[in-house]
Amino acid sequence: MRHTRIIVTHYGGPDALRVVEEECPEPKAGEVRVRVLATGVSLPDIMAREGIHPETPPVPFTPGWDLVGVVDRLGDGVSEIELGQRVAAMPIHGAYAEFVCLPQRELIPVPSGLDAAESVSLVLNYITAYQMMHRSAKVKPGQRALIHGAAGGVGTALLQLGCLAGLEMYGTCSPRGAQAVTDLGAIPIDYQHQDFVKEIHRLTSEGVDAVFDPIGLSHLWHSRKALRPGGKVVGYDLITSIRGEGLTSGRPGRRQRFRGTAIFGLYIAGGWLLPGRRRVVPYSIQTLKRLKPKWFRQDLITLLDLLQQQKIKPLIAQRFPLAEARHAQELLGKGGVIGKIVLVRNG
Ligand SMILES: NC(=O)c1ccc[n+]([C@@H]2O[C@H](COP(=O)([O-])OP(=O)(O)OC[C@H]3O[C@@H](n4cnc5c(N)ncnc54)[C@H](OP(=O)(O)O)[C@@H]3O)[C@@H](O)[C@H]2O)c1
Repeated sequence: MRHTRIIVTHYGGPDALRVVEEECPEPKAGEVRVRVLATGVSLPDIMAREGIHPETPPVPFTPGWDLVGVVDRLGDGVSEIELGQRVAAMPIHGAYAEFVCLPQRELIPVPSGLDAAESVSLVLNYITAYQMMHRSAKVKPGQRALIHGAAGGVGTALLQLGCLAGLEMYGTCSPRGAQAVTDLGAIPIDYQHQDFVKEIHRLTSEGVDAVFDPIGLSHLWHSRKALRPGGKVVGYDLITSIRGEGLTSGRPGRRQRFRGTAIFGLYIAGGWLLPGRRRVVPYSIQTLKRLKPKWFRQDLITLLDLLQQQKIKPLIAQRFPLAEARHAQELLGKGGVIGKIVLVRNG
């Protein structure tokens, strides 16, 4: 049987993505073959294509952080999982394919009846949002939070979970995202035309308890200025690595990332050493999953339950067939996408 998968042929722009047809993979002992129903398109996928994400595999590789699919074939020694069962996983790369083989321990059952695109949005974006909110910042009802990139995939997840947690929320976004941010219960701040630190102090007088910052570099330090004493900035990536310098094929982004990591370290130390009890802490979903795999499983089960109870509703910006992965990444790379882009199985 043949299947389609997407490969990155070299580190670079969208032209690095190719559609290939090949023999379907066979599961090894302890593995399960999954027929992929939906896989998310995310900035980390683009950063891996550019060769600037810490988890970038050697080329050629198949991108795709997260997937939801159906168990299609069992390798030797696999038990307690049934053919046809719906599952989710975060393989970090490899999900842009019709079929994927994964170790059984990586699979988390997904209740039947849930939309595959909505379920897959929980894996990367909502777990990131949930763990930053409840395991890193440890927010409490009534606290104030500033969410940067609030109209994006992780940003809209933070807004929905912040609403459930009873937070007062402020969200930076470009003007095209302002309505979505308002609809999700936050006060929008236009990052292109307003100084968010001044705006936060004008609106709250003393600052916020938590800031969620995916922008990185010096932006983390500005975010710290929006905190009240005892508050925390959770820094979770470097949008500046790809948006600041533009998408590249010469891999200068890698240098930017090393610089970004060094600056991040200085800010973490500064947060501890300077007066004011305003801390900067890093978050990485893949690091926490490796350190605390039980948390990852437990948090995804909690989120799937919230989805089933319709307490959260991932915003799906657009659904594309797998073969249009390049178009989907081009759209995300241009910016202005509200919510999550998902590649879905034809039909
Ligand atoms: N550390 C982790 O574990 C982890 C996990 C998941 C994701 N991430 C990271 O999280 C970041 C966001 O991912 P995503 O999938 O949510 O991306 P996304 O859907 O593209 O959202 C990013 C949002 O940021 C906005 N933005 C860009 N520059 C901004 C600025 N200077 N100030 C405020 N907002 C700004 C964009 O708005 P406009 O397009 O309208 O300008 C966009 O809405 C990425 O860097 C990704 O690598 C990290």
